[in-house]
Formats: sequence, C-alpha cells, structure tokens
Amino acid sequence: MEGSLNSSPPALPDSSDADKPASRLPRHIAIVMDGNGRWAKARFQPRSFGHRAGQKAVRATIESCLRRGIAALTLFAFSSENWQRPRDEVGALMELFLKALDREVDELHGHGVRIDFIGDLCAFAPALRERMTAAMEKTRANGKLALNIAVNYGGRWDIANAVKQAAMATQRGEVAAAALDEKSIARFFCLADLPPVDLFIRTGGEQRISNFLLWQAAYSELYFSDVLWPDFDADCLQRAIDEFARRERRFGGLVEKSGQARSVPDSRDQAGSQE
Ligand code: FPP
Repeated sequence: MEGSLNSSPPALPDSSDADKPASRLPRHIAIVMDGNGRWAKARFQPRSFGHRAGQKAVRATIESCLRRGIAALTLFAFSSENWQRPRDEVGALMELFLKALDREVDELHGHGVRIDFIGDLCAFAPALRERMTAAMEKTRANGKLALNIAVNYGGRWDIANAVKQAAMATQRGEVAAAALDEKSIARFFCLADLPPVDLFIRTGGEQRISNFLLWQAAYSELYFSDVLWPDFDADCLQRAIDEFARRERRFGGLVEKSGQARSVPDSRDQAGSQE
C-alpha cells in the first residue's frame, strides 16, 4: 500500500454521510478488487504493475472506511483459484503482500485497525505466514476498523471448513447433530464475530460473486462498478455507499405500507448472523 494514511483520521463520520441515518450506512463492506490486469494492459505494462497500483486503492479505501466509521472491510486479495495464474504473477503478488505487511502494519495498528487474514493460510510460505500471524496478534485488540484480507480464500472452502468444524463439535459432544442449525453453524465461519456483509462491491465491470463470502453475503446489497480497481477512489466508494443508502432492504419481509409498519429486521438479526 503506497503513500501514507493521514496522521489522525477524524472520529466523526465523514460529512458526506452526515445526512444518512446510521441504519443507512453499511457496517460491513466487502470488495472484489477486480481490474488490475486490464488497468496495466491499457498502459502496456505487466499485470504485476496493476497489482502494485491496486495497493493505492486499498489504502484509499481503508482511509475512507476509517473516516466514515465503517465497522468492517473485507477485501478479496487472492482467491483459492488464483494459484492457476502464471507463476511470475503469483510470485509478484506474494512479494507484494510480504512488503505491504512489513510496511503497513505498524501504521494501521496506530490507527486502531484490527487486521485479520481469512482463508487457508497453510498454503503460503512460512515467512509470509509468520508475518500474517504477527500482524493479527499485534492488532487483535484494536476496535476502530476490522480489516479482513481474504487470501487463498473461497466461499465454498469456508462452507466446507465450517461443516468440518461442526462435525468435530458434534463428535466432541458439544452439540447434538440434530440440533445443528443456521445459528449454531454460523460461529464456524470466517468473520463470525462481525456483522454480515451489508454492501458487496465488485469493480472491473464483471457482475459475479466469484466464490467470495457465500454465507456472509447472503443478504448483501450488490454493487457493480465499471471502474478498474486501481482507479477506485474515495468518490467511487461514496457512490457505492449512496446507492446502498437508497436501497430498500427487506430480508424477505415486507416494508412499511400506509402507516402499517411491519418490522423488517436489521441484517444483524438475520438467521445465521455472525453476531
Ligand atoms: C484481480 O484483478 C485482483 C487480484 C487477483 C489481486 C488483488 C490484489 C491487490 C489489489 C493488491 C493489494 C492487496 C493488498 C491487500 C496488499 P485481475 O488481475 O483479475 O484483473 P483483470 O480482471 O483486469 O485481469
């Protein structure tokens, strides 16, 4: 992540959100950061150039979330399927993650960011794994923004992992198999301590979920942007948040009709909520 976070982000939400009631602001934003390769290609550069440029957008997005008082931000940095990319691109991404960890953790820690890596971390080189673990341990107690970086992550992997954990819990006699339900299974998923994803953003023009947060995004509002990830800035995020604020969320219920309010639960009350 290039550049530097402003030395002390204001504690109050950004003025651009001042007109929105708290329930109209997403508490948890997830982003599929797509378009780095095309951004680089348009500049006759290798794909790794696009990934490096993408770090700037990562930094701008973290900064915006801190300023707005968003509780959680989850970024898809490397999917389980990304290993299929050319060796040099995978290598460049790993180096980039390593350098970003060395460079950024102290500053993010200073801003009260809790860093978490989600995904099957076993596949990574020990040096990278150690840095990830150290970053998570160092920032564990922070409460300003939960920043989750999904690496070697896949939504189906997350589901399979949760099923395995649930099966092991039944074997230990902690829960009867017949008693397993959405609520009891929810705690075995990644991000179980966070609100479900309210706003799911994908940049780069494609309109798909690509195996990201299949469980956690069950009731997300989906927002697709044509902007390539390295160009995604604070204004782009603002547009996504504005669009989110205009959406009517029903969670399968009904909305208020001629004064006869029928309560529509907040996303945190949904079955399977991770709270
Ligand atoms: C998808 O674009 C992007 C990735 C697979 C990598 C995302 C990584 C970063 C933004 C680097 C910084 C991240 C951190 C957390 C330090 P693509 O390569 O598929 O683009 P394309 O669709 O244009 O080919």
